[in-house]
Amino acid sequence: MNSRLNKQVAIITGAADGIGQAIAQLFCQEGALVCIADINEILGQEVVNSLTAQGGKAIFVKTDVAAHESVKHMVKTTVEELGEPNILINNAGIIYPNESPLNTTKEQWDKSFNVNLDGMWNCCKEVLPFMQAAKKGAIVNIGSVHSFKIVPNHFPYAVTKHAVIGLTKNLAVEFGADNIRVNALCPGMVETPAAFRWFEESEDPVAARKSLGDIHPLKRNASCEEIAKPALFLASDDSSFMTGQSLIVDGGRSVVYHL
Ligand SMILES: NC(=O)c1ccc[n+]([C@@H]2O[C@H](COP(=O)([O-])OP(=O)(O)OC[C@H]3O[C@@H](n4cnc5c(N)ncnc54)[C@H](O)[C@@H]3O)[C@@H](O)[C@H]2O)c1
Repeated sequence: MNSRLNKQVAIITGAADGIGQAIAQLFCQEGALVCIADINEILGQEVVNSLTAQGGKAIFVKTDVAAHESVKHMVKTTVEELGEPNILINNAGIIYPNESPLNTTKEQWDKSFNVNLDGMWNCCKEVLPFMQAAKKGAIVNIGSVHSFKIVPNHFPYAVTKHAVIGLTKNLAVEFGADNIRVNALCPGMVETPAAFRWFEESEDPVAARKSLGDIHPLKRNASCEEIAKPALFLASDDSSFMTGQSLIVDGGRSVVYHL
């Protein structure tokens, strides 16, 4: 075990799968005590079992980030079982409903914002008092390349991800004096288990994977581990003078200008 997060208490939302799971794995290896906060009880418990078997310290708390009472319960349980949180990774998010703007219903708009934006604020609101009292904390909000660019018919995902940057900047300014850093991490296409299932559903899975990878100047998609490492950087003292920033980790995708 390494110790860049020695005995730090880290809450990672949406850590039962995909990017969040990879972050939980790396943070445990670095000595953090980790709360997996996810709606998926089966996968969440499996992740905890795996981390514990590797010598890590982790708990699962069933959490719907969109429901404030659920988040309150999760933070209370974390404090009781692991200690007061020093790190929050706001990772839970849904790409939903992938519609055109005028076809998007109010229910779809609300659900998208409830998870992707309200969910982050619910978690921030509950952990910030502990970080203020400790005069130290790091919050990492997972944005996206969709935080800066628009892909047609992905409404309102990109709107929620743009808002994540606003939330990040605002909280960074408000809580900097408490030595609480708030940054956004913005991935390009990441090969999560869900992405692989999606490739498999297409007529030619190899071609589907390659065509998405080819959008990036590096000519491939990211692995979950390649997003976990910059999350560790932003959560640890390695980025101690960095706040209010967006770290884009997208294989160069966002700098391409299409003629
Ligand atoms: N995968 C990508 O290519 C990619 C790219 C850029 C940004 N992102 C962002 O990264 C984050 C993680 O994405 P992923 O691809 O790993 O997703 P994923 O679907 O693989 O995993 C998301 C996890 O969040 C959980 N979750 C969903 N709704 C929840 C809720 N209301 N409360 C608690 N947990 C909930 C799910 O159960 C799941 O375990 C998201 O914010 C996503 O927008 C993903």
